[in-house]
Amino acid sequence: NNDYLIAPSILSADFARLGEEVDNVLAAGADVVHFDVMDNHFVPNLTIGPMICDALRKHGVTAPIDVHLMVEPVDRIIPDFAKAGASIITFHPEASTHIDRTLQLIKDQGCQAGLVFNPATPLHYLDYVMDKVDVILLMSVNPGFGGQSFIPTTLDKLREVRKRIDVSGRSIRLEVDGGVKVDNIRDIADAGADMFVAGSAIFGQPDYKQVIQAMREQLK
Ligand code: DX5
Ligand code: ZN
Repeated sequence: NNDYLIAPSILSADFARLGEEVDNVLAAGADVVHFDVMDNHFVPNLTIGPMICDALRKHGVTAPIDVHLMVEPVDRIIPDFAKAGASIITFHPEASTHIDRTLQLIKDQGCQAGLVFNPATPLHYLDYVMDKVDVILLMSVNPGFGGQSFIPTTLDKLREVRKRIDVSGRSIRLEVDGGVKVDNIRDIADAGADMFVAGSAIFGQPDYKQVIQAMREQLK
């Protein structure tokens, strides 16, 4: 099913050869590049910013870039990411004082906008913004690091969000991030997800194409 998007998280790529890694994973069949931005404040790790996004675009990456902001505050960095070629920008509601304003800012910059929910963050933040979100991202690990295990209660949360999306009648993507592997992607899809971030599962293997094909096989 082509309506499922596979988004490798470059957090697990070899940063010393990032352009090549992104080319390889896209050539291996990935749909979207998942770009994890951490600030050592909202989450306990420090990664990459708009300059690296811009460098990937200049390198020739044309695939959508899905920027997952784990930073606080969020608003200041959004125009920079839009200029750097971000396609989707998602942020955590806890990191924004004015959630509606931040969503609108992302859209005004010409990007798709989304909210990200940590494992224990309640879904009520969606209540008055379903008309503004293009993507809802559920974290299935606590953010900050790759290679953690999928938290099983995420499946119930996915089913709940799937219902809300269906009620809204809008074509909102339901993305899941953390611990996604070949052996659990089917259950995650059955719970309602249609966009899958996978870092260590893909970059931890020598043959990216084989992993992505095995994931798609599970999604048939
Ligand atoms: C975690 C990041 C994830 C991470 C996923 O804070 O948001 O995107 O890279 O890595 P895996 O797939 O290894 O759990
Ligand atoms: Zn992420």
